[in-house]
Amino acid sequence: MSKNYKVTGEAVDPDNVIHNNSANDSFESVLARARVSRRGFLKGSSSLAAASMLGVGLAFLTDTVNQEDQVATAASGLGLSFIPVAKSITDTLTVPAGYTAKVLLATGDPLKINVTPYKNNGTDNDFDVRVGDHHDAMQYFGMNRAGKGWDPNGSDLALLCINHEVCDDSGFVHPNGPTDYGPESTNPRPPVEIDKEVAAHGVTIVEITKQGSSYEVNRSSRYNRRVTAATGFEIAGPARRSLMMATAFSASGEKTRGTLNNCGHGYTPWGTYLSGEENWAGYFHRREDDTALTAKELAAFKRYGIGNATSGRYNWSRAGAADGTDLYRRWDASQTGSSASRDFRNVANGFGWVVEIDPFNPNATPKKRTSIGRFAHEGCWPAKVLAGKPLVFYTGDDARNEYTYKFVSTAVWNPKDATGGLSAGDKYLDAGTLYAAKFNDDGTGEWLPLKMSNPNVANYTAYDFADEADILINARIAADAAGATKMDRPEWGGVNPANGDVYQTLTNNVSSSNGRGVKTPLDAANPRYYADENGTNTNQGNVNGHIIRWRESGSNPAATSFIWDIYLFGAQANTGADVNLSGLTDENDFSSPDGLWFSESVPGLLWIQTDDGFYTDATNCMMLAALPGSVGDGGTKMVTNKSVPTNAGGGDQTLMTHVGQSASPTVLRRFLVGPRDCEITGITESPDGKVIFVNIQHPGESSASVTDPTQFTSHWPDGGNARPRSATVVVTRNDGGKIAI
Ligand code: FEO
Ligand code: CA
Ligand code: CA
Repeated sequence: MSKNYKVTGEAVDPDNVIHNNSANDSFESVLARARVSRRGFLKGSSSLAAASMLGVGLAFLTDTVNQEDQVATAASGLGLSFIPVAKSITDTLTVPAGYTAKVLLATGDPLKINVTPYKNNGTDNDFDVRVGDHHDAMQYFGMNRAGKGWDPNGSDLALLCINHEVCDDSGFVHPNGPTDYGPESTNPRPPVEIDKEVAAHGVTIVEITKQGSSYEVNRSSRYNRRVTAATGFEIAGPARRSLMMATAFSASGEKTRGTLNNCGHGYTPWGTYLSGEENWAGYFHRREDDTALTAKELAAFKRYGIGNATSGRYNWSRAGAADGTDLYRRWDASQTGSSASRDFRNVANGFGWVVEIDPFNPNATPKKRTSIGRFAHEGCWPAKVLAGKPLVFYTGDDARNEYTYKFVSTAVWNPKDATGGLSAGDKYLDAGTLYAAKFNDDGTGEWLPLKMSNPNVANYTAYDFADEADILINARIAADAAGATKMDRPEWGGVNPANGDVYQTLTNNVSSSNGRGVKTPLDAANPRYYADENGTNTNQGNVNGHIIRWRESGSNPAATSFIWDIYLFGAQANTGADVNLSGLTDENDFSSPDGLWFSESVPGLLWIQTDDGFYTDATNCMMLAALPGSVGDGGTKMVTNKSVPTNAGGGDQTLMTHVGQSASPTVLRRFLVGPRDCEITGITESPDGKVIFVNIQHPGESSASVTDPTQFTSHWPDGGNARPRSATVVVTRNDGGKIAI
């Protein structure tokens, strides 16, 4: 997530602002009380059986293996074969000896044969035919040799779907940076700037073809296109036609325009792309007096962080003479008309969803799948797909003290729908149950249904839910009502294909970098409270993050209970045992895990990517390869925190928690280190596991100027005096082998 924010004129990461004032347990307080039951963890950890042989692609469409047989131990038989990459603060991308990394697609690169090369000086305005900015998650969709349609095993041709989280805040896409639009400014924004920023958001769909051992872009492909913050979308699922979705653009509440802040991703067993809308709330302007709103309207705006002093992340509503056109007016969520269908008071209800895009049908209108709830979505990761069983997708809400969710479809999977496109999405993604997770003290957990049939939701006194649409539009409030556990910023998740365990990164939980905001309340010690190598309390909360994992009861993804432990704690290797809880070494120490993704070509191989601001004196952000074991493979640990601030509990505090197996370099190694001021995010692979694609987001993001190269903190990937650009990188192994193992 990019941190520079012109609206406030100071560095504030929107992820770091708390909007959850509910009394629900925080994950930290659960940790503090955790007394993990060994018996519970060990139950059901039997054989690996056939699960590890299912592999990639078509296997999961035809998988009829009994669920009980998929309970597994560690990914046996795998070993990491590469030499770990050292930490680095140089402005280069480093991969292990014997590997090659090459840039495939950087910000602004042409997507069509007749588009001019990107000049990278701010003068190219046609981002609707260029690669967007701030590459984030992505997915490889193999294509059959005829170039028509999805083939999960297709390796000669493929479509890459790439999220573009934001448009660079520094303004590298403009000749001299953006027109000043900070809070003190009354300047209108030139529409040409707004239009370019809108078009640099969204998703890129691009065809790639195999060339030797690597891939090249096919700029002639009819599939190449952009979905942007201006593209038309259908509202699908229970919130379609809700009164709360009505706008001047769609009085019936059936349509909206654009997708925003596309961060994590997912995919479906029918070959469509899922993209999570994360920090969309900051894009909207709202200036009316709070007293003009009903109590419910106000509660909803506040819970999602749309205050009445916001002017919108980029001030897209302030387009000078063009203000009156609804292309710009739509970013203003104030009540300016006589009814919801005459203004855009409900416009923000059209964002915060998982969106579904059919990469193989450029004419299909993408859909917002409202059954999966509205919040700051990270991705939407499928559990193993089983014929005759419901489909299950995991997703997280990335903000401080927000929740972990899963969606279970009403329809059960019929492999005949594997070519169904968006109409299969209508069948499986528009009806089901959204759950929020409660992590109990004893290492068990529960999935709490967000439905009117849940009395805690239906009878919630703080917000009177009208119907299922209201619950999904205000899913955060419904999860408050249900009693979900506050987490340390849920980022990516993934399901280990070798054993069905579900992993989720909790990237960190810190106050804003400028010290504003409420300190996370700690009523007991928390292993993530300090990270300084001297044991000095940083007074900021969980700065290094951790990775939680769980196993559903009976290894049934649709189960409503689970067991959990903590797979890894981020830390500097040179910190004490109370901080370096997983025993990280120089070969694998990391901070703030963010991207997390399991290979399907190599079942059991896990990739971890960082978006860190706390270990940057020693290293740029990185990617590690891991061979994790299984839930419950570690033991309990006592953790002592020294001098916890009084507003977070106070004094020295001690807890017992449960930590996974120690992370020796045998099973966890640094594979890649990025250039300066970037985050590593997004990874996908070719079906044979011999090519991986990795995204480098916002190199040079803290550059003090966009015109003076001496003030750029990075010139990657073009070098020289070039402006830095986000990019997709292709990594291959020089001997042609599978990556990492
Ligand atoms: Fe966009 Fe939560 O990272
Ligand atoms: Ca992040
Ligand atoms: Ca992220």
